[in-house]
Amino acid sequence: MRVLVSGGAGFIGSHVVEALLRADHQVWVVDSLKSGRAEFVPPAANFVLGDIRHPQRWSPLVPQVDVVIHLAAQVSVPDGEAEPLEDGSTNLMGTLKMLDWAKGQGAREFRFASSAAVYGVPAYLPLDESAALAPLAFYGMHKQAAEWDVRHFCELNRMSGVVLRLANVYGPRQRDEGEGAVVAAFATALGSSQMPVLHGDGGQSRDFIFVEDVARAFVTGIGEQSGGLTLNIGTGKATTVLALWQQLARIAGSNPETVRFGPARPGDIRHSLLDVRAAEETLQFRAEVELSEGLAKTYAYFSAQPR
Ligand SMILES: NC(=O)c1ccc[n+]([C@@H]2O[C@H](COP(=O)([O-])OP(=O)(O)OC[C@H]3O[C@@H](n4cnc5c(N)ncnc54)[C@H](O)[C@@H]3O)[C@@H](O)[C@H]2O)c1
Repeated sequence: MRVLVSGGAGFIGSHVVEALLRADHQVWVVDSLKSGRAEFVPPAANFVLGDIRHPQRWSPLVPQVDVVIHLAAQVSVPDGEAEPLEDGSTNLMGTLKMLDWAKGQGAREFRFASSAAVYGVPAYLPLDESAALAPLAFYGMHKQAAEWDVRHFCELNRMSGVVLRLANVYGPRQRDEGEGAVVAAFATALGSSQMPVLHGDGGQSRDFIFVEDVARAFVTGIGEQSGGLTLNIGTGKATTVLALWQQLARIAGSNPETVRFGPARPGDIRHSLLDVRAAEETLQFRAEVELSEGLAKTYAYFSAQPR
């Protein structure tokens, strides 16, 4: 199939592109390189420099495609708070523009990267897809609104709409800033013998999923869906930030005690964990990479980076 990946030069997007190429799909990447890097795009994919908010500028360079996987986004929660118009223009209007472009192309499926940020403070754990949505910041609010746009637009235009709500993704090529980048920040600190700061007591927990698993979720059953799906993509396992640090420090051969505790971040959610049974049942997707294996691969990547 012909697949367009928006944000395919980014952290998750570049792994999605690799997974698509492995499955013999033809891939086009549209990315503005705001936070992505051209060298992350495999040479076998077709790279088009462009902004999702202006499809008319790059559309002539892309052929008719069957599927659109939409990952391009403004990904920083603090930046979204500082510049809500920019966040809304990329994450909400940009998604609508991509939906409209996909329709014009006659694409039959649209897959969208949403976030566990749409849930806000969880009313219960693990969070299933029917839990109340109460995002705390513009980033999650615009993701929530964009989810509605994807579902409604796809239903109206007989496209298959697939919304994937991602847990905390980690792995090679992640920047040590942006949403849930704690693994990248720790790995970078360990690679340069710096002492990282743990916010609060480190007892806050998250559902950490390896990026190659997430890429597989985006590619699983592609082009085969007939109805709309909104699915959590995580491991269903919680890990505290302190336990994460300890595992990573051991992998790096460092003393896990060499950590500083800083003040808790205001508004930080204490615990987050996704119920992942719906993705298992409807998409036949289950995360496979154990945390120890994913962390080892991530550390190997960061420690090989030039400083
Ligand atoms: N990393 C996580 O833990 C996580 C969790 C939940 C959801 N997500 C979502 O997954 C997607 C990918 O995130 P990521 O972590 O790989 O971040 P990333 O910053 O590496 O990827 C985003 C990509 O979008 C591109 N981009 C930004 N604005 C653009 C625009 N206007 N036009 C074209 N391209 C543009 C960037 O250059 C970058 O390559 C995003 O939609 C993000 O909201 C990520």
